[in-house]
Amino acid sequence: MTDLPPRVRKAVVPAAGLGTRFLPATKATPKEMLPIVDKPAIQYVVEEAAAAGLADVLVVTGRGKRAVEDHFDRNTELEAALAARGDLARLDLVRASADLAAVHYVRQGVPRGLGDAVLCAAPHVGDEPFAVLLGDDLVDPAEPLLDAMMRLREEFGGSVLALADVGPREIGRYGCAAVEPVRDGVVRVTDLVEKPEPGRAPSTLAVIGRYVLDPAVFDVLAKTGPGRGGEIQLTDALRTLARDPGTGGPVHAVVFTGRRYDTGDCGEYLRAVVQFACRRDDVGPAFRRWLREFAASAAAA
Ligand code: UTP
Repeated sequence: MTDLPPRVRKAVVPAAGLGTRFLPATKATPKEMLPIVDKPAIQYVVEEAAAAGLADVLVVTGRGKRAVEDHFDRNTELEAALAARGDLARLDLVRASADLAAVHYVRQGVPRGLGDAVLCAAPHVGDEPFAVLLGDDLVDPAEPLLDAMMRLREEFGGSVLALADVGPREIGRYGCAAVEPVRDGVVRVTDLVEKPEPGRAPSTLAVIGRYVLDPAVFDVLAKTGPGRGGEIQLTDALRTLARDPGTGGPVHAVVFTGRRYDTGDCGEYLRAVVQFACRRDDVGPAFRRWLREFAASAAAA
């Protein structure tokens, strides 16, 4: 019998960050709950995991994130009110978020960084590969990125990242990868640097918020001290895996060319809302008409 690599079954969604780039909106509201049109960002993320067949979702939460838990739970009072009014369409909408996946929670007591948030998932994930989807990062739902990443994990084992070419001006805001080509759209990651100084980036390929990780990353994270910004960086642990495949590597990556949005950044949030609104069958046509007029008058001004 051949030893097939274990399949990815679980998704981890870190959502315990402070969201300081989006204050004051995020003072009392988790940034993952900010609406993209009329759905919170994190619901798109959980939908993406479910669409990729990951029906077990662990959300890493923290202080002030109860709204996330309520959103993926039933709300019997609201459901009863909508049923009494015969508003079945909205009743379906309200139930849908509770039926998407088996959503579990673990709390990160202190937001010590993304690496620490992922480490909080270790008892739930156990010794199997898992996906990480950042709770405020949206990938165009038309792009099967996670599927491609899971196929790469089946092919090579180890861990798989998603990289996007963000150009030399933007790369200093991201984790940056040094890579070797494998084939069209696939690279092997040989090194990683978190937020490189200008001129010191090994490429313009940025790590974006989707990962398929080997459970070996937990041992590495447990030994990873605070890095840039005093936070435990996932990039630092992945760097260890990439440089020394004996620790649980190799690390490969899909080079993603579709649209993605870090909705924790105000400008990207606005772009996400506009794109998602334009695509909608209900509000889209009228919104697109308005947007064309608005853009024309703004250009004239
Ligand atoms: P970010 O760096 O975008 O989140 O982390 P942040 O710290 O909330 O951002 P600021 O304050 O606006 O700069 C990426 C993802 O990792 C999660 C965040 O919730 C987000 O989904 N995260 C970050 C944690 O879960 N725990 C942490 O300690 C840090």
